[in-house]
Amino acid sequence: MKIMITGAAGFIGSAFARLAVSKGLLPVCVDKLSYAGDLERLKSVSDKIHFHKADIADKEAIGRIIASGGFPPRAIVHFAAETHVDRSIIDPASFIKANVTGTENLLELALFHGVEKFIHISTDEVYGDLLAGAAGFRETDCLAPNSPYSASKAGADMFVRAFRKTFGLPVITVRPSNNYGPWQYPEKLIPLCIARAMRGESIPLYGTGENIRTWLFVEDCAEAILQVLERGRDGETYNIGSSEEKMNREVIGAILKHLGKGEELVKSVPDRPGHDFRYAVDTAKIEKETGWKARVRFDEGIEKTVRWYGENSDWLFRKADEARAFTDGLKRRFGEMGTKTK
Ligand SMILES: NC(=O)c1ccc[n+]([C@@H]2O[C@H](COP(=O)([O-])OP(=O)(O)OC[C@H]3O[C@@H](n4cnc5c(N)ncnc54)[C@H](O)[C@@H]3O)[C@@H](O)[C@H]2O)c1
Repeated sequence: MKIMITGAAGFIGSAFARLAVSKGLLPVCVDKLSYAGDLERLKSVSDKIHFHKADIADKEAIGRIIASGGFPPRAIVHFAAETHVDRSIIDPASFIKANVTGTENLLELALFHGVEKFIHISTDEVYGDLLAGAAGFRETDCLAPNSPYSASKAGADMFVRAFRKTFGLPVITVRPSNNYGPWQYPEKLIPLCIARAMRGESIPLYGTGENIRTWLFVEDCAEAILQVLERGRDGETYNIGSSEEKMNREVIGAILKHLGKGEELVKSVPDRPGHDFRYAVDTAKIEKETGWKARVRFDEGIEKTVRWYGENSDWLFRKADEARAFTDGLKRRFGEMGTKTK
């Protein structure tokens, strides 16, 4: 089965592409290769995929790729997005272009070419945050995004919904919780901490470090999306998560323990504006309907992850240096909590 994967050179998209290849699917991979995209993630399957460098905001280019090879893909699995909350605080408009306009382009093209399934990768962040002890969000809960990133993802979700209601496009939305694992760009918490701790540098911790996230090993997430592609019901939304809720400082503590480093590396920094306190989702629906359940426990996953970055430290440090050059440049232009909107 020919499928199109957008954002396939990113962290989760590449894990899904590698899984899809192992299951005999034929992926046509599309990625703009922004700072977050890297073909090294697809190296192990490069002879089993077709890769196209293209921007989903460029409708004509994506249309040509969909039509190429004589027949369109049966399914589009849509990961491509701007994904970093801090960058969305600095430059919200670029998130609308990639995440909303890009998604709407893909929906129009899927409709035009008669694509049979459109799997939209959203995020648990569209629900907004939760108080400690409250039950996890369910798929029927209202959306209440708090950052420009989550607002742009929620906007995309609404277009996905509207294309099914208005035009009958077969769509499914999934809302995963925080992923971690090999190949994640080190501007995100876990690889950033590993890179800094490995080099004996200070580790920035937002506020008190008590913010809670639910952690999902990336291979579990890719497997969930495959199950939804095969068994998910048209028009439905599925949360994807685990029972592994951790405070940020607990996550950092686990990394330091595995690296044999001390807590003195942790340095508190001013909190992110609008920082959501807690995310948690109820996963009963995907478990009941597809049989999927997260398999990798956090203890096991974080150990594997720390080991992988240790074995791939050249990649990690190269990317960490790129991420730092970007952050330092922004601080020079806009100050510590700078934003283009000021
Ligand atoms: N990482 C997480 O914890 C997490 C959790 C929930 C949902 N998600 C969602 O999963 C998806 C993938 O996330 P990720 O962590 O792999 O992100 P990522 O930033 O690692 O990868 C995103 C990929 O999309 C590509 N891309 C960005 N803009 C593009 C454009 N306009 N056209 C084509 N390609 C473009 C980038 O080059 C990159 O390869 C995103 O939609 C994200 O919102 C991520």
